[in-house]
Order: sequence, then C-alpha cells, then structure tokens
Amino acid sequence: MTTTFASPSSVQIFDQTASAVTAGLTSDPKWLPSWLFYDAAGSRLFDQITHLPEYYVTRTERAILAEHAAEMISQAAKGSALRLVELGAGSADKTRLLLAAAVDRQDTVFYEPVDVSASALVEAQIRIEREIPGVLVCPRVMDYTKGLELDPCLPGENRLALYIGSSIGNFEPKEAKRLLESARAALDPGDCLLLGVDLVKDERTLLDAYDDASGVTAAFNRNVLIRLNRELDADFDLNAFEHCASWNPAESRMEMHLQSRVDQTVWLAALDQRVSFNAGETIHTENSYKYRPGQAEALLAESGFYPETTWTDERGWFAVCMGRAR
Ligand code: AVJ
Repeated sequence: MTTTFASPSSVQIFDQTASAVTAGLTSDPKWLPSWLFYDAAGSRLFDQITHLPEYYVTRTERAILAEHAAEMISQAAKGSALRLVELGAGSADKTRLLLAAAVDRQDTVFYEPVDVSASALVEAQIRIEREIPGVLVCPRVMDYTKGLELDPCLPGENRLALYIGSSIGNFEPKEAKRLLESARAALDPGDCLLLGVDLVKDERTLLDAYDDASGVTAAFNRNVLIRLNRELDADFDLNAFEHCASWNPAESRMEMHLQSRVDQTVWLAALDQRVSFNAGETIHTENSYKYRPGQAEALLAESGFYPETTWTDERGWFAVCMGRAR
C-alpha cells in the first residue's frame, strides 16, 4: 500500500518551536508546551517510562484493554464492519489488542493511525501489518489537535476512534472538550470513541509515577532543554535545572517543572533572546490531568457523545470510556 504524506516542512516545525518557546519563556511563570518532549530521544525515553515499575498508567490500561477488547469491539461495531482510527500513534502496542479483536470478527480491518510524525507512522505500519495479518494500515500525517479530517467510511461501515493512553491528560478541561468536539465532527452519528483517562488516586502513587527512582522521568523532563540547545542553539546547563513533580489538588493534575538551582541567564541564539532565572524559579513543562469517576463520561456528553460504557481496573486507577457519536 502506498501513502502520500503531506508532512509539515522542517521550516514550519522550526517556526512552531520558536514561537512556542518565545511565548513560554517570556511569560511569568515560565512554561513550555509538553509536545516539545517528543523528539526522537524523548519518544525513546517515554517508551522507557511505560516500562517503569512506578509508572502504573500504561500497564493498567493495557490490562483493561486485554480483558475487554472483544466486548469493546463488538459493542462499537453493532453488527457492522468496523474501521479503527487512532489519535496519536504512540500507543500502537495497546492498540494491537483491539486490532486483534477486530480481526477475529472480520477478515480485513482498516486502521488509520493519525500522528504528526511520519516516521513513527511508517514504523507502526510495518510492525502491525507484519504482526496482525488482516489489518491494513492507512497512516495519516496530521496534527489532530488542529482538527481532524477523515475520508468517508465505506457504506455499512462504522468507525471506532481511539484516544487512549491518557493523552487527553495533557489538555486543560476547555482544550480537552474542544479536542473531543473536533473528533466528534470527523465522525458520523453512531460511530464510537474510546477514551482512556487516568484517575485520581493516592498522592504517593502519583508522585512516584512522575519521579521514578531510576531517574528516567527526570531525564525525559530535562531532554526538552537538550532539544532547545540543539534546535534553537541555546546554552542551557542541564545540571543547573532540577526535575520536580508535584500534585496540584485544586486543578486535579500532576505537574512537572524544571527548577533553576541558581540565578542564571540562558542565551537562545536562534531566537536572539536572553532568558534570566532566579534561583528556585521553574519552567512548567507538563500538566497531566487526573479524572474523578464520572468526569470522563461528563466530558464525552458535553462533546457530542452518549457515554455508553466505562471499563476500569479493580483498584479504580484508570478508566476506558466508550462514547457514541450523537
Ligand atoms: C503521554 C501524556 C500520557 O502524562 O502520564 C509520563 C506523559 N509525563 N511521565 C503522562 C508523561 C511524565 C504521559 N502521557
């Protein structure tokens, strides 16, 4: 199968990075967008995070999908053929459980992973077509946060959109709603969306998951500075910033920050910009929202879906919710 990519050019990516970094580092408090984490090194580090003993997120969701994949697929299909579309291709490992369940019901399953990274998509395509015969991968290079455009389904087909992995956790409630509304707009009435959200739990468990003993999450956080040094010709001293993870109960989110250990000034040559830090000042690099039971269902309902079923683990740490497009 051949695919034409309308890939964003490196100039566009540079402009996007430059303007986001300028906006974030000239604000008070300083911040950087969390999508900056995912260059090649950052994507590898995130993959390592998913295997950490402290990072319960991935394995808890995987267990829920493993137990209920067949039921999820047959509920979404409602007797029709099903086509799967996934927002973000990073979680292809868990997606495999759903694809395998879909191939059990029908001979051929179209799978459209949507991601900004063409290389991640090609890798996923090769791996999945080799490992699950019957799946036809149709990669879509697109920034789904800027709206989703899908080809119409074949007659008699239903779509199941996947937004799993707690990816929605990076978005503030308003943005999360906008994102689900745009997913809804790309679907037809009767199509389904499967949403994976991480749930509020004891603070110790949360803190450990975002500040693991082996320091992988700290390296993941600091990697954003390595990226700015490389792409914006900056001179961040990595040892001068500390990884901090904290629970913000008022906003119901985990936060990651990089805290300056000293008074210092950083030079970003490509932006022709100097940025000063006081000792103790932080750059806010990520929010990871944790939902309370019922909140994901309410969000689906506000965004144009009927919440149909929620699956969770016995500890109630993670929820996978099915919404049907109204
Ligand atoms: C990929 C957004 C689901 O928020 O848990 C992991 C990213 N950050 N450790 C999350 C992340 C720190 C992750 N998501």
